[in-house]
Amino acid sequence: MKTFSGKQIARRYVLYGVFLFAIQGIVALLGATSLIFPDLPSPVSYAYGRAVHLALATFWPVIGMMGMVYYYTVEQLKADIYSPKLARWQFLILLMASAGLLGTLALGIGNGREYLDGLPVFYLGISLGLLLGAYNLIRTLWQNKQKITPAAGIMAVGAVFLCVLIIPNVLRFTNPVADEAVKFWVVHLWEEMAFELTTSGFIASFFVTAGIAEKRDIEKWLYLEATLSVIGGLFGTGHHYFWIGFPPVWLFLGTFFSLIQVLPVFLLAYLVYKGFKKHKPFSLREKLAVGLILSSIFHHLTGATLLGILITIPWINVYAHGTYITSGHAHLALFGTIGFLVLAGAYTILSEKEPLDKKAYGYGLSGVILLNLGLIGMSSSLILAGFLQTYLWRVMGIDFMAVNSVINPYLILRVLWGSLFTLGAAILCSLIIRTWWKTRRA
Ligand code: HEM
Ligand code: HEM
Repeated sequence: MKTFSGKQIARRYVLYGVFLFAIQGIVALLGATSLIFPDLPSPVSYAYGRAVHLALATFWPVIGMMGMVYYYTVEQLKADIYSPKLARWQFLILLMASAGLLGTLALGIGNGREYLDGLPVFYLGISLGLLLGAYNLIRTLWQNKQKITPAAGIMAVGAVFLCVLIIPNVLRFTNPVADEAVKFWVVHLWEEMAFELTTSGFIASFFVTAGIAEKRDIEKWLYLEATLSVIGGLFGTGHHYFWIGFPPVWLFLGTFFSLIQVLPVFLLAYLVYKGFKKHKPFSLREKLAVGLILSSIFHHLTGATLLGILITIPWINVYAHGTYITSGHAHLALFGTIGFLVLAGAYTILSEKEPLDKKAYGYGLSGVILLNLGLIGMSSSLILAGFLQTYLWRVMGIDFMAVNSVINPYLILRVLWGSLFTLGAAILCSLIIRTWWKTRRA
């Protein structure tokens, strides 16, 4: 019987993640178009289209990330994972739960919960999948106690958080404050704590292999990043508790700890700057992955962190909360920071034994550039729309619908930039899928 290694199974996770991302671009573009032309005929209502978009935004990065954690754990420990068979079952459970969730949402079956819409059974499936992953990783580290590296340890902690934070979301709480709070454990804490831990393990492994950073420097950064992500992430979530019924002390805690979250990103940018001055020449394959990682660091610094701080300040948040400024930040932060990294990981994993030729490199690079341009254009249009919306609607008190017609041109611009984004996504996804096809027998 054919046996699989953890690295082989990691390929399935990242491939499925990339496939879901490719679908997301198309769904999103249709949704953005129906926002400006509400009378366009569509088999799926806007509300459920949005729910599908948000479910994809939440789950494709996590499925891709699971593959990255398995792959880089094997790289770090120089040993296979505890149970590749369990990882295969886990994949099947995640595949069925996510496909079921997306399919039922597209059919208009859900419970109306923003971000985490859908039947609880699918959230149970996703939680079970992540629980199996966390168990498999803990057993892997236990089996290889002598070989544990900071990157492997931190990735496993991140994976445990992914599972612990989603479990309460299988239930609905009758208390609306509790219901909103646990939702942000996924919307915020996944992104700014669990993913920070798993992606930092990937960045550390990649940087050492590509000669961008010294192992000693990157390990020091890893410890600091892990500590600040956990403390900053846990309390920084407070910026989502401002107006949902939490005690006012969270205005201070949320703001103060959001500021702390900024430090590791700047440190990482400094390490990259230092490393780039003396790195060894990259192969074309590494260059493409570096392009994706640098895009992520850029958006992490700007759209996630700097814009994040601006909208965290309570005197600004009280006006800007829930406007298109939030949407601009959400796109820059979620795709800009996490999405680019998952694509970098997916490409690196699937191209392990496949060097890139010049033509394919140029093709891939054009995808990365279009994704960046599309994302920046789309999010800038949203931020401009958001500023107008905040001023006219929240400050001047002008009627919501009247304001909507003023910001409509910016929403049209968003669709145009979004088309560029989708083109970039199609180019990069096709390159990644072609690479998988070529390497599938190796
Ligand atoms: C990788 C990092 C980040 C990701 C992926 C991310 C993602 C998101 C998403 C998806 C939302 C929308 C939530 C909703 O609509 O309810 C959001 C909102 C928000 N984010 Fe971030 N974020 C990141 C970093 C940050 C940082 C570092 C800060 C602050 C320093 C921040 C501050 C905020 C605030 C204040 C809101 C709520 C805005 C409002 O009240 O409408 N974010 N973020
Ligand atoms: C062609 C590209 C895309 C287009 C046209 C698009 C369009 C949209 C639309 C129409 C919404 C509903 C709210 C709004 O009008 O802003 C939305 C929300 C959202 N999208 Fe996208 N999207 C795209 C790509 C992505 C990607 C790649 C991600 C993340 C991986 C993402 C994450 C989100 C999030 C987190 C929200 C909720 C924002 C909030 O709470 O305000 N989107 N998007």
